[in-house]
Amino acid sequence: MKVIHVTDTHLVAAGKMLHGLDPLERLRLCFEDITAHHSDADLCVLTGDLTDTGQTDAYVLLKELLTTLPMPTSLMLGNHDHRQRFCDVFINTSRDSNGFVQWSQTTSEGVLLFLDTNEPGTDEGVYCEQRHEWLREQLAKYNDRPVYVFMHHPPFDIGIPDMDALRLRDCETFAQTLAGHNNIRHLFFGHVHRPISGQWQGISFSALHGTNHQVPLLLNKDPDNGVFAFCQEEPLYGVALIANGMTTVHLQPFLSRQPVYYERYE
Ligand SMILES: [Fe+2]
Repeated sequence: MKVIHVTDTHLVAAGKMLHGLDPLERLRLCFEDITAHHSDADLCVLTGDLTDTGQTDAYVLLKELLTTLPMPTSLMLGNHDHRQRFCDVFINTSRDSNGFVQWSQTTSEGVLLFLDTNEPGTDEGVYCEQRHEWLREQLAKYNDRPVYVFMHHPPFDIGIPDMDALRLRDCETFAQTLAGHNNIRHLFFGHVHRPISGQWQGISFSALHGTNHQVPLLLNKDPDNGVFAFCQEEPLYGVALIANGMTTVHLQPFLSRQPVYYERYE
């Protein structure tokens, strides 16, 4: 199974710039590269911050652009998104019984769980008791199958103070919910605008740059009063190859794709 991971697209109104960059044009180039090189992918997942301020017209732009992708897509919410405006545009989106944009999908390689960590009024991630209850049910239901989790906010510190101040709130409860489920194979997340991989309570994880602006690797910055550090490192998309319980995540810098050449080893 091949899953494309795109995150933090931060779309704004057509023609508008963000951080001096054009998010719509960059996402168009991203989708163009994915279509050219990975049209055989089973799924493309966008792990939140689809728009920068949750505007309806930005969701409409996204909906139009998604028609250029040849594979099915899964759209998730981030802290910059607006749940109701998103649902008004993507009227067929999956929601749980409480209205959160989270669902499960069974595949040949296991079950994909898409979690909703958006909470109006804060940039931190929130996973409330209602959402925990849904997750517990899903983990119990799919206890005998490999599970892959997708979410916007990381449920742990990554060592960058700016981002750690805005990670998932109440990580301990989330960690407890996942603890003991040895069938959780990998955790994909966005939010941090950086390529990161590692392991957390026995679960491998990966994140990547967004398609527009990025967060610099500043490990000692004070996360002071809303002043955040940004940079314009290369945007990426991820290509996850999942087979027989093994996950391999490749990262592709699509704006600087170089010509391939071949040489015979003598
Ligand atoms: Fe973001």
